[in-house]
Amino acid sequence: MLKPNMNYGNLKESYLFYGISQKINEFLEKNPGEKLLRMGIGDVSLPLCEEVIKALHTAVDDQSERARFHGYMPECGAPFLRNTIAAHYNKRGVAVTENEVFISSGASDELGDILDLFDRSSSALVIEPAYPAYVDANVMAGRRILHISSGEENGFLPEPDKNVCADIIYICSPNNPTGAVYDRSGLKKWVDFANESGSVIIFDAAYEAFIEDDSLPRSIFEISEAKTCAIEICSLSKTAGFTGTRLGYTVIPEDLTRSGMNLNGMWVRNRTTKTNGVSYIIQKGGAAVFTAEGQKQIKASIAYYKENAKIIMRALDKLGITYFGGRNAPYVWMKCPFGMTSWEFFDCMLNNIKIVGTPGSGFGSCGEGFFRFSSFGTREDTAEAASRMLTFLKQ
Ligand code: MLT
Repeated sequence: MLKPNMNYGNLKESYLFYGISQKINEFLEKNPGEKLLRMGIGDVSLPLCEEVIKALHTAVDDQSERARFHGYMPECGAPFLRNTIAAHYNKRGVAVTENEVFISSGASDELGDILDLFDRSSSALVIEPAYPAYVDANVMAGRRILHISSGEENGFLPEPDKNVCADIIYICSPNNPTGAVYDRSGLKKWVDFANESGSVIIFDAAYEAFIEDDSLPRSIFEISEAKTCAIEICSLSKTAGFTGTRLGYTVIPEDLTRSGMNLNGMWVRNRTTKTNGVSYIIQKGGAAVFTAEGQKQIKASIAYYKENAKIIMRALDKLGITYFGGRNAPYVWMKCPFGMTSWEFFDCMLNNIKIVGTPGSGFGSCGEGFFRFSSFGTREDTAEAASRMLTFLKQ
């Protein structure tokens, strides 16, 4: 008899964001027509920028003419996009070559797929609170998972601990959900730790575009010796509004080897087997993000979301509520008032003022007592949510 992957039995009943959307659906069934202010999942509300739309239209037209038509794309990404992204890194002084850049259909897909590079008997270290897919993808593969807790005491930026060492180490900076960002010396400690222990860091850089403090690293490859211990996973979802369009990129250094195997070469082997590349049209749209005009336009959208974050932070300041993040990150991570648990506060916000956020405990047990606001909503909804919170929580 076929034996399914029994590791699924070790997963939580549902994935965090799926569970929340089910709760919202139940609420709306009981309260038809009610308008919710959605500040939960980090889905963008602004459309793709003009430069990207123009490139997408042109690419669609290319597909209508025999001479410009594209069928299967190179599995690791179109050279025009791999080149453009490598040049984008180089412009910031980060040495990355075209062959080290792999085009993906988004960071969340890639975070799961990349685990093909590692043996199932390897272990994974997750710094909590953490994006829940890190844990779930490893539970599905039956890997041993170790946790490091972070909290207010270390600004949600823990240092490595030689007693808690794993083969794969997840680092997300700017962090989802806390918004905390490692500085160069903090990240260097992790790079040294990984090089010494032979671990590989999976650096989730999905929110790098939100860093406004130039002294903070946007890429782990800004840190010396990271090329022998890290893989960087990036996304255009939050950077350029591609949550629904789907496009990302991953950097696997050519110098990254473990047990005599080269991880860059292994990924080429994996991609050439398991994918036929990302659509030509979408990759053309992605390349437009990196033009001078594209950069100007996406920065305007990021500024819009940052202003939303400020609106949330101002309301929390007025309420005297402690929070983290929001400045170099699109998430505001607040402490639940009145000693409420994360889910109590979630229900309280939903039922009383029709605001949806994300309960901190969904990101790991040390997220208990916290709540995450996303700043990716519309200005109108964000301002309305801030004003409802001010009135309601003051009472
Ligand atoms: C989040 O809200 O944490 C993210 O939007 C989820 C994701 O990127 O998949």
